[in-house]
Amino acid sequence: MALLVTGGCGFIGSNYVRRVRRLRPEAALVNLDLLTYAGNLENVAELRDEPGYTFVRGDVADAAVVERVLVEHGIDEIVHFAAESHVDRAILGPAAFVRTNVLGTATLLEAARRIGVRRFVQVSTDEVYGALGPDDPPFTEESPLRPRNPYSASKAAADHLALAYHHTYGFPVVVTRCGNNFGPYQFPEKLIPLLISNALEDRPVPVYGDGLQVRDWIHVHDHCRGIESVREKGRLGVVYNIGARGESTNLELVRTVLRVLGKSESLIRFVEDRPGHDRRYAMDARRIGEELGWRPEMRFEEALADTVRWYIDHRAWWEAVRSGAYLEYYDRQYGSRLCGDV
Ligand code: NAD
Ligand code: TYD
Repeated sequence: MALLVTGGCGFIGSNYVRRVRRLRPEAALVNLDLLTYAGNLENVAELRDEPGYTFVRGDVADAAVVERVLVEHGIDEIVHFAAESHVDRAILGPAAFVRTNVLGTATLLEAARRIGVRRFVQVSTDEVYGALGPDDPPFTEESPLRPRNPYSASKAAADHLALAYHHTYGFPVVVTRCGNNFGPYQFPEKLIPLLISNALEDRPVPVYGDGLQVRDWIHVHDHCRGIESVREKGRLGVVYNIGARGESTNLELVRTVLRVLGKSESLIRFVEDRPGHDRRYAMDARRIGEELGWRPEMRFEEALADTVRWYIDHRAWWEAVRSGAYLEYYDRQYGSRLCGDV
């Protein structure tokens, strides 16, 4: 099998690529990533020289690049992670989200359909469902899509396109929607790695608004296991929610992490709320459990403690990310070959 992973240098994509490599060493694995600020070759450094693994720096919204990768590598299946992924950035600049998440997905779908790719996994998010009130039942796969910020709107558009390709052309698409991930290699603009890295440096930890927003947290290991089950066994044209019943308010989460780190709650700073901030997400993941036998393996408290440990042990990784040093390095290494030299 030849598998194309897009966005394999980001947080979840890199965890997935390393997992596939470990469990399916016979598969040819191509990682197509533009190396935006969120992509980091360090995340997949251990694979660099392995036979059967190829990294291509390129843009999923560039049809010529995508087509070339699919043809030259004889790609059978695609797991599509590449995206702009941070809500706060989407609020400041939505255009990049429309370009990568909508146009990029459309470009990839069209090339894959024309070339006859056998399976396309669209990796999506619970945020496409919108926000829940405190007593609402969790989102099911039948919940209507009511995205409320430019990030979730762009992901919803991509999901609609992917499912429309199945309906219209019979193109073999499956969609996964997961809650908030945490774990190794997450870019420290997202709440958990920001919180850990700030606290380790005794810097203030910003909590938006009253901190009582609820997110449904899952360790990236369980998300990647879920994606793999859906890739292998998911029914075509079907959406699978992935969730580990990890609901927590932001404030509870921040307090827990500070406690695990032995840091004082005086580091907490309540700051202005995010515009249009979704109050609560929660996932009903019964379908993937009943149909595919997937269950989360990690308990929330353990998963959080493991993650804290990882950031303590990998200080050099997040310090380099924060300083931006890795980006200058890529521009030296790949700058002249950007977008397309396969
Ligand atoms: P991330 O921001 O850490 O990584 C995104 C990766 O995509 C980076 O390596 C980046 O360089 C690459 N990329 C961006 N634009 C590209 C382009 N035009 N062409 C090629 N590569 C490009 O994101 P993440 O948190 O790992 O999320 C991965 C996917 O999972 C996204 O589709 C996201 O919507 C989805 N998701 C994320 C979460 C979460 O909690 N982080 C939860 C559910 C779903
Ligand atoms: P984030 O990690 O950005 O994920 P998302 O917005 O996709 O859910 O944020 C998680 C929650 O934490 C969200 O409710 C916003 C909040 N938050 C803070 O309170 N402070 C912060 O510094 C950040 C980055 C997020």
